[in-house]
Amino acid sequence: HPKTRDIKRMMNERLTPPVLDILKNAGNTAAELEYSAYVVGGFVRDLFLSRSTEDVDIVIEGDGIAFAREFAGRMKARVHYYKKFGTAVITFADGSKIDVASARLEYYQFPAALPTVEMSSIKLDLFRRDFTINTLAVCLNPDKFGLLVDFFSAQRDIKEKTIRVLHSLSFVEDPTRIFRAVRFEQRFGFTIGKMTEGLIKNAVKMEFFRRLSGHRVFGELRQILEEDDPVPAIERLAEFNLLVSLHEALKIDKKTVAALHATREVVSWYDLLFVDKPYMKWMVYLMVLMRGMAQQTTEDLCDRLELPPRHREMADAGRREADTFLHWIQRNPGIKNSELYQRLFGFRVEQMLYVMSVTDSDTVKKHISRYILTLQHVAPLIKGKDLNEIGIAPGPLYSEILRKILYARLDEKVRTREDELEFAMRYANDPDGWWKRR
Ligand code: CTP
Repeated sequence: HPKTRDIKRMMNERLTPPVLDILKNAGNTAAELEYSAYVVGGFVRDLFLSRSTEDVDIVIEGDGIAFAREFAGRMKARVHYYKKFGTAVITFADGSKIDVASARLEYYQFPAALPTVEMSSIKLDLFRRDFTINTLAVCLNPDKFGLLVDFFSAQRDIKEKTIRVLHSLSFVEDPTRIFRAVRFEQRFGFTIGKMTEGLIKNAVKMEFFRRLSGHRVFGELRQILEEDDPVPAIERLAEFNLLVSLHEALKIDKKTVAALHATREVVSWYDLLFVDKPYMKWMVYLMVLMRGMAQQTTEDLCDRLELPPRHREMADAGRREADTFLHWIQRNPGIKNSELYQRLFGFRVEQMLYVMSVTDSDTVKKHISRYILTLQHVAPLIKGKDLNEIGIAPGPLYSEILRKILYARLDEKVRTREDELEFAMRYANDPDGWWKRR
């Protein structure tokens, strides 16, 4: 029998009213259809850890699709079905999502070596999951709302801060779980249990990863590199020889670790300044991991990870371009703003953060941060229309003049609109002479 416990109070204290409302509505809808509904997995785990989550995962004992259709209708939300799997995704107007799955015996396939035991369908659903800490379920039906069901001692493992698989074939079933184990361990400050650690070492020795697609490996690696602080997880992957098992060039030495720590500081700095500006944080770390790799090795690794072309381009050509810039600026520390601007124009933020991460030079870091913070936003005060008004004939000269004004502004040679207009006049009268006078 599972351990059960009423956690209504914890839910009321830790969840926001809109989320509680959704959960209650889901329970009511399920009850009317004569199903049982549970909120499960990471959502409940994070509730116990007092961490906020976005994902709500609901498992229906019954037809999850029929539930999702009815529930989405009531909540005025959109819904997508995956008939084959009995799953659905409900999307609310504010963009938040709920995953719905059906706990029905016909959806489950067992590894042949596992004993078939009698289980309720919710228990079976939870048994298929990766780690005990992800197996908590909370009943949502009105008569049992807030009843926690713990079949696999998840509460104990959360208390003991331990990552444990549910059975010894877990990594055979799905080797990506090894990456997940490391990710959860480092994210929560937990420890992988002894047995589980043994299973990981065995899986690495037996090269379980060979048969994993690059796409799936990359998906996991990317999630690790998107964590708040991926560095301890990367070190842990290296400790298990997981990185070299992906590619022999992924050896992590002290210098790489130092560069990764520097990367963490640089991306934190950037994230603080530009809260909502999306960029590929994982790419910055990946480029740092690839630093110094020969082109052929880089291509091999990109092949292994099945990186899509645009990501490949950045990891390979983009990284070399950034290295060239670094090489140049280290030898030209006293450059003018306009030169810096021309060198960095067109760079992706990932490339700039990569350079900041791998350089030891504070001057270089300051140059790049000045470009990111101010220089890249500088523009002339006057426009083509103003050039027309002071009698300069429209033509290709306009963009040339405006670009020269931009450079003059970057180098603080013009300040006001009048400065710019005067600059434009002089330049238009004698473009070549302007260069000489400069
Ligand atoms: N799961 C699994 N094996 C995997 C991936 C996922 O068993 N390879 C299960 C986990 O038990 C998890 C659930 O599917 O609880 C949902 O997966 P996901 O959303 O990736 O997990 P979360 O625990 O929500 O992780 P995160 O907080 O990183 O989103």
